[in-house]
Amino acid sequence: MNYEFILGNIRPNQEEIDAVIETTRNVIEFINRTCEEEGIDAEANAVGSVAKGTWLSGKSDIDVFISFPYESEMDYLKEKGLDLAYKTNDEFKGKANEHYASHPYLTCDIDGFEIDIVPCYDLSGGKPIKSAVDRTILHTEYIQDNLKEEQIDEVLLLKRFMDAVGTYGSEFKTGGFAGYLCELLILKYGTFEDTLRAAQNWKRHTLIDLEDFGTVGNAIFKQDPLVFIDPTDENRNVGAALRLERYVDFIVASRNFLDVLDNDDLDDYERQEKILEFFNPLLKEHLDKSKEEIAKDILESFKDRETQTLVIKFPIPIMSADALHPQLLKTVSSICEKIDMEEFSVFKYDYWTDEEKFVIFTIELNVFKQGKYYIHKGPKVWTKKACDNFKAKWGDALYPLDEFMVLTRERQFKTAKDFIIHTLQEENIHIIKVGKNIKEAICSDDCILLEIDEFLNDLDDQFNYNISNKTSEELARDYLNSLDDFLNPGQYIKR
Ligand code: UTP
Ligand code: MN
Repeated sequence: MNYEFILGNIRPNQEEIDAVIETTRNVIEFINRTCEEEGIDAEANAVGSVAKGTWLSGKSDIDVFISFPYESEMDYLKEKGLDLAYKTNDEFKGKANEHYASHPYLTCDIDGFEIDIVPCYDLSGGKPIKSAVDRTILHTEYIQDNLKEEQIDEVLLLKRFMDAVGTYGSEFKTGGFAGYLCELLILKYGTFEDTLRAAQNWKRHTLIDLEDFGTVGNAIFKQDPLVFIDPTDENRNVGAALRLERYVDFIVASRNFLDVLDNDDLDDYERQEKILEFFNPLLKEHLDKSKEEIAKDILESFKDRETQTLVIKFPIPIMSADALHPQLLKTVSSICEKIDMEEFSVFKYDYWTDEEKFVIFTIELNVFKQGKYYIHKGPKVWTKKACDNFKAKWGDALYPLDEFMVLTRERQFKTAKDFIIHTLQEENIHIIKVGKNIKEAICSDDCILLEIDEFLNDLDDQFNYNISNKTSEELARDYLNSLDDFLNPGQYIKR
């Protein structure tokens, strides 16, 4: 298949290339000049997709790493690195946000580009890495040395396809394929199409060891669905952040795509049209609707499901996104597990967060109300001693049922909502496994629990705040979008 009709839209044109290179060069030159003026022994360089020439048109984040001498103290590197980054941001009148990988770095909005400025160690001479981000330099060099010119287009196709089907990006929120992993897959399989042909038959535990290190069977990788040994580090799986859900999404999306590609009933034009859809972000019908209209549609869908959906919203303390997500997932899944144990039934749950100020748990219940009484089971009738003890406690209320002594007791929680209210009290929170940083917030008065219609009927009130890069309107729409995904799972992977 000739993919030029897609590549024409995703390959950066000369104008964009010039703009990206110009901004990158200006930033690097400024940092290096400042180092010289201030007597700092460090050097800025471009890494990541800009340095590799594998960035998608319109989506370039520029990665600039400042390498410090290998012997530098970590504290020195941290302090000077961040200081240089802030100076750069000020010089170019950018907007800065601090992030945290193995140490702090800065993301700056300069000339309309998102620029990551990250301090790291200079590894020249083949020294082993000292901080986790140092690998990035090795990755950049490996791809520069091994990816053939004509394979860049294949990487772009794969990244764009991944992006459209929702499997691109290794940040926790997505749990998908990193850019570097896409590049390595092209090195392994040669082309975009052959990558998908291989992926459609991937198994639960796929092992790839491009450099034949022989480490792919190591026990530390046993749980990972895809093990792609990092050609620059035999003890690292490049797919470590890939979650099973995204891995499976990619496999199924590949099958769906190949079904179209290999369908002889389609003429060339029809095939091209359908293929094109797989490369475009899913156009949601509601793009031109107001958020109130979207909310109305969403409520209608929930109503049609005849479930009850509860929403828990609370503020988050200041913490890194990487630490936040696992805690949220752990907490919401633990709440739902306990709800099930109380004989209610959770149909589906999810969480949403702006990663800065608030979290929202969404819990949809098939069984959300119970009768007044339940059967409390005691020991089997056959052991008299145990039955005597049981009777001493409960007295005449006991009666036999099947082989057991039982009694009819009034339920403590008649609704799942009552149970959640009870659980989210400081004195009861130990019932669930709750992330340590969010424990206080989820028990505080700032935590609210509403039914979904109450929540969505007052969107302006619920989203009456901004974060550093999103307005209240964008936040509300972002949450509604997540509800749309909640109601329509798998919509991205088929077209
Ligand atoms: P990026 O996420 O910016 O990737 O990480 P990228 O290759 O530049 O791709 P895009 O086009 O911006 O999406 C920058 C570098 O950090 C390392 C890789 O070396 C990558 O090139 N990295 C990042 C990882 O090794 N693993 C990750 O999960 C993320
Ligand atoms: Mn990048």
